[in-house]
Amino acid sequence: MKPPTTVRALRPGGEIEIREGLAGLTAGRITVLYRRAPLLRPVSDPKKLWAMFERSSLVLTAWRGRHLVGIARVLSDGELYSILVDLAVEPDMQGHGIGKLLVRSVLDRCQGTDLLLRGSIGALFAHVGLQSVTDAWVVPG
Ligand SMILES: CC(C)(COP(=O)(O)OP(=O)(O)OC[C@H]1O[C@@H](n2cnc3c(N)ncnc32)[C@H](O)[C@@H]1OP(=O)(O)O)[C@@H](O)C(=O)NCCC(=O)NCCS
Repeated sequence: MKPPTTVRALRPGGEIEIREGLAGLTAGRITVLYRRAPLLRPVSDPKKLWAMFERSSLVLTAWRGRHLVGIARVLSDGELYSILVDLAVEPDMQGHGIGKLLVRSVLDRCQGTDLLLRGSIGALFAHVGLQSVTDAWVVPG
């Protein structure tokens, strides 16, 4: 596990710290963030939600002091492929670069593997150097 990454304030009055792992997280905290962001996930089933996190290869969280302000979750084989499956930032803190910071931190930790993700936030992904591809296929959820 990497030590926490602390970055300078993205807005006056605070620093954002990126932490790796489940420390400080609970299903309840994740639910609040997902509901507020919003990110449509099975928040009505805390057991299922927590299992999703426990079985993830990598969980990164963004903190402003004691407040959870962002989450990213990755599934990876550690060799060839990593998939960024969920990204959410607290609405009061959106638009201040925390999303980009989380994706950059994911890229940093998943170096050496192809990082795949699905989503429509093109501007964010382009900012951190990702390219859109046309040869990906999904089973609609
Ligand atoms: C998407 C999300 C994580 C971005 O977090 P953030 O901290 O606001 O992102 P940043 O401040 O780093 O913004 C990065 C860029 O992405 C753009 N962006 C942010 N949200 C966007 C959205 N929903 N659609 C399109 N572009 C978006 C911003 O305009 C910004 O581009 P700019 O610098 O050219 O203005 C956050 O808006 C969120 O939690 N949304 C709800 C959940 C969600 O949709 N998650 C993504 C699932 S793949």
